[in-house]
This record gives sequence, structure tokens and C-alpha cells, in this order.
Amino acid sequence: MKINVTVNGTAYERDVEPRLLLVDFIRNVLSLTGTNVGCDTSQCGACTIHMNDTAVKSCTILAVQADGAAITTIEGLAQNGSGQGTLHPMQQAFWDKHGLQCGFCTPGMIMAASKLVESNPHITDEEIRHGLEGNICRCTGYENIVRAVKAGAQAMAGGD
Ligand code: FES
Ligand code: FES
Repeated sequence: MKINVTVNGTAYERDVEPRLLLVDFIRNVLSLTGTNVGCDTSQCGACTIHMNDTAVKSCTILAVQADGAAITTIEGLAQNGSGQGTLHPMQQAFWDKHGLQCGFCTPGMIMAASKLVESNPHITDEEIRHGLEGNICRCTGYENIVRAVKAGAQAMAGGD
């Protein structure tokens, strides 16, 4: 089936198998491998992207369901893109607060967190932990992730 999607500001038209998962489309067809697959059963959140301005797990969606959608992946979050631009405030906060160890969960965490705090710059620890329940990290114990998300929320709202 033919689909048209805009990913990180670029329009693509591709023929895909009807049962191809969106995460596999992103990784294998578009070669955007920042979006990870941890489980492909909707448990871990490593595959989280933004689709039409909402954070979604891309392993729970078929590529054909994204026809006509605007998608942002971790590669498109930084301004000016291509690894040369300015990090998104949430990316910078994860860097500054050491919100990662192995980094496998990090793209999904950042994509989920950046939406979670969008309208809540003073988000509490409890709200962060609840909001990121669908994103699993096997390394950090979550403490620095919570610190990073709080710092990112403030930075996104224009604070420091
Ligand atoms: S790979 Fe999608 S939730 Fe784990
Ligand atoms: S940093 Fe390793 S899984 Fe989260």
C-alpha cells in the first residue's frame, strides 16, 4: 500500500506491506535508527515518537495508519537537525543531569517527556513518574531521569 508521511519535516511516499509496524518503517525503510525497539509489545516505550503532536509508541501502530501524518523522531527534535543543530531543551537536560546510562531507553524517554511537560512546566516528581510509567529504564533507577525531566520542563518554559 502507498503511504505519504512527513517525518522530521521531510515528505515521503513509500509502498509498504499492510502489516509493517510504524517503528520498522521508521528504522528500516527511512533508516532513522534513533527510535529503538525494546519489546515491540507496547511495554517499554523505547519506540516513542511524536505523531500529529502526540507521543505514541510506534510499535503499536501500523505504518499504513500513519498515512497523512506528521511524525517527529528523536533525530528531528534538535533544531536545525542532522546532529549539527541545537539540542532540544529536554535533550540538553538529559545530558546535563546524566539522565541515562546505556542510553537505550533515552530516545523514547525524551520523546515522551517532551510531550508530558509541554503544558506543565512545574511538573512534580510524582507526575513525572506517573506520566512516564510506560517508559522502562533498566539502568538508572529513574532518579536522574526525573531530575532531567524537571530541568527540561523548566527550560522548555523559558526558565533555566
Ligand atoms: S518497542 Fe514499543 S513499547 Fe517497547
Ligand atoms: S539508560 Fe539503559 S535502559 Fe535506560
